Amino acid sequence: MTSSIQITVAQVPEKVPFDRLVEILLAAFAFQDGIVDPPSSAKSVNVSELQWRFARDTLILAHDQNGTVVGQVWIEDIGKDAYLYKLSVDPASKGGGIGRALVEAACAFAAKNGKEMMRLHVRVELRDNIAFFRARGFDIAGEGIHDGYDRPTFWKMARRLSV
Ligand SMILES: CC(C)(COP(=O)(O)OP(=O)(O)OC[C@H]1O[C@@H](n2cnc3c(N)ncnc32)[C@H](O)[C@@H]1OP(=O)(O)O)[C@@H](O)C(=O)NCCC(=O)NCCS
Repeated sequence: MTSSIQITVAQVPEKVPFDRLVEILLAAFAFQDGIVDPPSSAKSVNVSELQWRFARDTLILAHDQNGTVVGQVWIEDIGKDAYLYKLSVDPASKGGGIGRALVEAACAFAAKNGKEMMRLHVRVELRDNIAFFRARGFDIAGEGIHDGYDRPTFWKMARRLSV
């Protein structure tokens, strides 16, 4: 990752560019169209959804040297563990280590808050994403099935956190 990328925990909603976060999510998840079944919930994201998520969860942002947000990851407190979701990097900035830095920042945040495991879900069709998370220390911990389906549609992945 270029040293000019800043990773920060968003503190107040007034400073969060929710419309930019929606833009990144739509652009980043567009490649999954026609690949994942059922379609990704990221396709229906909007500003009001992200605002209520911000009131409940933790948002970590990546900014470039111009102060533009180029990546995001969300963390939900699920008790003794944490749940990572909506990890996304602006396609124009992909491959520069930002995704890796966001995952590490999310795990560090959760570990600092006493969480035992970081958990996430990844669609079974997304072999590259599964490889990405394996390389970040996640293992497959189970399978999940969306309502109305009779086969596994996502893997549950988990990484043990250490303080
Ligand atoms: C997945 C994603 C967050 C990765 O972010 P990124 O900034 O492009 O990734 P990085 O540059 O940090 O890559 C880190 C490593 O993973 C590898 N990698 C990145 N994306 C990969 C992919 N799709 N498949 C396989 N390897 C990948 C890189 O080569 C790099 O390897 P290295 O550690 O050996 O150098 C980003 O591609 C993205 O937003 N994807 C679309 C949204 C999405 O699918 N989110 C995850 C939902 S489960």
